[in-house]
Amino acid sequence: MTTETRLRIAMQKSGRLSDETQQLLKRCGLKLNVGDRRLLAHVTNMPIDIMRVRSSDIPGLVMDGVCDLGIVGDNTLEETALERELLGQNSAYTKTTGLNFGGCRLSLAMPEEFNYTGLASLDGLRFATTYPQLMKRFAKENGINVDFCLLKGSVEVAPRVGLADGICDLVSTGATLEANGLKEVEVIYRSKASLIQGVELAPEKQAILDTLLPRIQGVMKAKE
Ligand code: PRP
Ligand code: MG
Repeated sequence: MTTETRLRIAMQKSGRLSDETQQLLKRCGLKLNVGDRRLLAHVTNMPIDIMRVRSSDIPGLVMDGVCDLGIVGDNTLEETALERELLGQNSAYTKTTGLNFGGCRLSLAMPEEFNYTGLASLDGLRFATTYPQLMKRFAKENGINVDFCLLKGSVEVAPRVGLADGICDLVSTGATLEANGLKEVEVIYRSKASLIQGVELAPEKQAILDTLLPRIQGVMKAKE
């Protein structure tokens, strides 16, 4: 009995990157039925399966070899790699190619009335964030002591309800900051989407990637 080798790619089920990721796969000629509730979608014209998951799970699934490839934001990738390193878990991956969508920045933001006079004015303050590792690294590199509390979403609400002095969260258009009375004071990380893979693929899977990768690069080039 032979089982066909299929390349398994993890992508975000819903959120910031999911529409553009789906469009990219479609433009690469992949035919798939992404019924809303189908979490492992079979590509009918190539030996590829698409696994639709939470973005924060994508790096770990690739690093643990559950998925061969993943399309994920650099912010989530870097945060997970730092966290896994700290926990002594496998954090190795290769960036197969950068992708030209999903651009955003991870920034520190404070209430509009806060008197920001430079990083030192943030010393000793508490920040709500989904990215504690990236934030800790930035604080360490810049010689400031900050405290943080973890929020997985709606981070911008934290200062107003007394949970934190400021926030460290993603900014794209800046509309969410503005709507919540916050101002961006420092950019700490710039992010885009990337295609990543575990360290080494089996030769049959590498062969499938060798067909797919030039198509991805072609789609990216056409978008430039
Ligand atoms: C993301 C991010 C910011 C916002 C940035 O949140 O966490 O809050 O988008 O975009 P903007 O600068 O264009 O306003 P999202 O809407 O995904 O919700 P969540 O944080 O509750 O998951
Ligand atoms: Mg948000």
